[in-house]
Amino acid sequence: MDTPQKGNITVIPTGAALAADVVGIDLSKPVSQEIFKQIEDAWHTHLVLRFRNQQLDDDALLAFARLFGDLDQAPIHAGKDVVNPYPEITVMSNIKVNGKAIGNLGHYEAEWHTDMSYNDTAPIGSLLYSLEVPPEGGNTGFSNMYAAYDTLPAAVKKQILGRFCRHDSSRNSAGELRKGYTDVTDPRDAPGAIHPLVRTHPRSHRNCLFLGRRRNAYIIGLPLDESEDLLNQLWAHATQKKFEWYQVWKVGDLLMWDNRCAMHRRDAFDPESRRLMHRTQIKGDRPFFDPKTLDARA
Ligand code: OGA
Ligand code: MN
Repeated sequence: MDTPQKGNITVIPTGAALAADVVGIDLSKPVSQEIFKQIEDAWHTHLVLRFRNQQLDDDALLAFARLFGDLDQAPIHAGKDVVNPYPEITVMSNIKVNGKAIGNLGHYEAEWHTDMSYNDTAPIGSLLYSLEVPPEGGNTGFSNMYAAYDTLPAAVKKQILGRFCRHDSSRNSAGELRKGYTDVTDPRDAPGAIHPLVRTHPRSHRNCLFLGRRRNAYIIGLPLDESEDLLNQLWAHATQKKFEWYQVWKVGDLLMWDNRCAMHRRDAFDPESRRLMHRTQIKGDRPFFDPKTLDARA
């Protein structure tokens, strides 16, 4: 077995509201505790990390991901006969073999979302590794939800503190109905987990806006029209360009995002071109809001 890589990594921030490149590391080789610590610190600071020019098979991808915690099983698919190579790896692809989709999300736009926040516990992060990329389109956007929360008007912060939102589980981020779910006609009836709108990150102890996804979201206890108005206001604020950064994919890019404090989306691309990515997710715990974070600032 290879000896773990020692020394230092170099972290180069994108200059946007989030994300940084990490250079000077080959993730197909074992990573020392010392380097892991540097990567984890950079991840908590920049929310999204990109490692370019990697050559990872599924075993190497899983081995690196496992440094951050236990991994999730792949989620329920949208009515397709998708076969995953490993239970912890989800294939994200538009490619069809013999007329059958080999992966999830197709070629469509994926709307802003947090992965699997419709469950009681959502992954702390996701790792997405590119094997094939289309010549254009299919870029992935990320948005900094600490910045979104910090810049909310004080009155809106007051309005949402202590409020909970239900995160719809019936459809995926491309809008497809998941297997075994019925169409939601009233957001108050949507299935899915309930989470605080303002979430305290367990490692940074900073608060961020935790919206999940817009479709069929509902703020518990409010009349539907008030819930819709407030959600529209929060989403308009959270999806401003100044909080974003976009990944333009190259083959061999590994991206990891902090699913607790960053949202993501994807541009559509030409269905005739091929895009193939392998994703794995680090198991999370239950989102919470810690009122002590406010006392500390007062
Ligand atoms: C995901 C996701 C976007 C993309 O893997 O959770 O939303 O760019 N992917 O494929
Ligand atoms: Mn996603």
